[in-house]
Amino acid sequence: MDKNIITVFGATGAQGGSVADIFLTDPALTIDWTVRAVTRDIQKDSSKNLAKRGAEVVAADLNDAASIRKAIDGSTAVFAVTNYWESMDAAKEITQGKALVDAAAATPTVKHFIWSSLLDVKKLSNGALPNVYHFDSKAAVESYARSLPDFPATFFMPGFYLSNLPGQTIRQFEPNGPWTMTFPIKDSAPMPYFDTNDTGLFVKAIVLNRDSVLGKRIYGATEYITPKEIISQFQEVFPEAGKTAAYNQVPPEAYKSLLKGAGMPDFAAQELLENFLLFEQFGYFGGASLDETHALLGEDKEKLTTWKKHARESKKWGVEMK
Ligand SMILES: NC(=O)c1ccc[n+]([C@@H]2O[C@H](COP(=O)([O-])OP(=O)(O)OC[C@H]3O[C@@H](n4cnc5c(N)ncnc54)[C@H](OP(=O)(O)O)[C@@H]3O)[C@@H](O)[C@H]2O)c1
Repeated sequence: MDKNIITVFGATGAQGGSVADIFLTDPALTIDWTVRAVTRDIQKDSSKNLAKRGAEVVAADLNDAASIRKAIDGSTAVFAVTNYWESMDAAKEITQGKALVDAAAATPTVKHFIWSSLLDVKKLSNGALPNVYHFDSKAAVESYARSLPDFPATFFMPGFYLSNLPGQTIRQFEPNGPWTMTFPIKDSAPMPYFDTNDTGLFVKAIVLNRDSVLGKRIYGATEYITPKEIISQFQEVFPEAGKTAAYNQVPPEAYKSLLKGAGMPDFAAQELLENFLLFEQFGYFGGASLDETHALLGEDKEKLTTWKKHARESKKWGVEMK
């Protein structure tokens, strides 16, 4: 019997790459599934590498609806993610997301559409945080998918990427200087953290439990952690670097200045500021518990990456860490 095809958008990127990887390697999946990996450039190394590993690599552009329909044709499941940060244009991201939904809805073989979503922050905050465009745009696509009668969708909600921390949010401002983590929020704010390499574990659980997760949100996070705990675990992993490590809460305007000093446009600095205030004021997942998602993962829950493991293995610190 022919195997089911999962079409993976963003297959050369962080989330989609992890989904492609697990469907190419996990025996519980390879028995029934093959991978169709979508990219704009089938000639680049990451695309060729996917082909070498057994994926069918196809070209499509999220700005070209006909190419999306062609890429989805004949597949049973679709994993769809868009990259807001490439254009920083929410309207464009919504158009891309709706084109993905429309293509899946028009393809009779598609039994499951998995959308990499985020919450509507404007709504969650009653308008107090109106500028977190990359969340609201993904939520608009989720809402569109929910509006289509009988459209079989599940919404994967990725947590805060751990890859934002090493060398980026936790960094030395001068050589051999103290390691500092800088955010505009209290050190007790809960942050659901996520290693993008774990995306596949969540999507595996979504696909294997299709009937019970249709219409649901699945929360992609290992656990909630606070900035204070992030620093104390950093100190455990790197006792030498940890001696001077500290959390530095800065006022909102100072945080924006930091981002703008690094070349970010004003609207994006405001967007990221509000994105962080979300953790403290309303909750990144609106206070949702991770228990139901973790129960769905079964034994795979133990494989979720911890902050300590991510810190130990990260290549992004820029110096040798001790
Ligand atoms: N940073 C965080 O903490 C965080 C947390 C939650 C969610 N997110 C969201 O994660 C999303 C990015 O996901 P990611 O990290 O997996 O992305 P990524 O690693 O930057 O990769 C982007 C992927 O999207 C594909 N892509 C982009 N534009 C495309 C287009 N026009 N047509 C076809 N494919 C296109 C790229 O494919 P090719 O280049 O090969 O064509 C690539 O595979 C963003 O929208 C962001 O808002 C981020």
